[in-house]
Amino acid sequence: MSEEYKQFKHECVAEIAAQGEDVEAMAKTRAWMDDANRLKYSYHFEWLGRPIIQYPQDMVAMQEIIWRVQPDLIIETGIAHGGSLIFMASMLELNAACGGPADARVLGIDIDIRAHNRAAIEAHPMSRRIDMIQGSSIAPEIVDQVRARAQGKQRVLVSLDSNHTHAHVLAELEAYAPLTSVGSYCVAFDTVIEDMPADMFPDRPWGPGDNPKTAVWEYLKNHPEFEIDKQMDHKLLISVAPDGYLKRVR
Ligand SMILES: C[S@@+](CC[C@H](N)C(=O)[O-])C[C@H]1O[C@@H](n2cnc3c(N)ncnc32)[C@H](O)[C@@H]1O
Repeated sequence: MSEEYKQFKHECVAEIAAQGEDVEAMAKTRAWMDDANRLKYSYHFEWLGRPIIQYPQDMVAMQEIIWRVQPDLIIETGIAHGGSLIFMASMLELNAACGGPADARVLGIDIDIRAHNRAAIEAHPMSRRIDMIQGSSIAPEIVDQVRARAQGKQRVLVSLDSNHTHAHVLAELEAYAPLTSVGSYCVAFDTVIEDMPADMFPDRPWGPGDNPKTAVWEYLKNHPEFEIDKQMDHKLLISVAPDGYLKRVR
């Protein structure tokens, strides 16, 4: 690592900390995100031709993590159109092209893999790195299958993006967070629901008080092996996963 790069990163750390203390910037971000949510902003992006229901900022965060961790297995709950699975697979492909794990794979779990989505995912060139399981991510038989596939893997990354109720995400954390390797991450998406107005989710079972962030907070009470990566939150500002980037530290 060159001295110039070290100095640059040193400056970034201080600037990111300042972002995290900038109350006005955070309030503006919060207000903008409420508008964006009403406009269904997160539904309008694609990755390599498949819809991905994410914010671009979180996709960059995941790229940074996938590069740093060099996982040989990524587990993701919540497939939808498959964009995030293809995103993860393409990052593993880039890692492999750069000397990382050659046989790294992504395992997606969804309670309802619609036929047209499955066909499009299976027809995609990145499908060579993708496996899918249909079923509830918290059903014991599905959890057993995922655990079996994680056996023997060296560096496992977990991404939770399915049903966003407190109970469901807490059950997913109990089932899958322990599969996360030390130094890797378990990311709980849509923690931002906790910070949004109560009337934002009229047709959903989740909302403030009952969402992935409340589940993360409860899980962390008894799991000191995970820490919230606050630097990631402060760097992103715009993110659907504040307090959701959980780093396994031991
Ligand atoms: C927000 S979407 C996933 C978006 C996807 N990760 C992306 O970034 O494009 C949520 C998905 O979770 C799935 N889902 C809902 N309940 C589930 C459950 N109990 N187990 C597994 N998947 C579930 C839904 O079928 C839906 O496809």
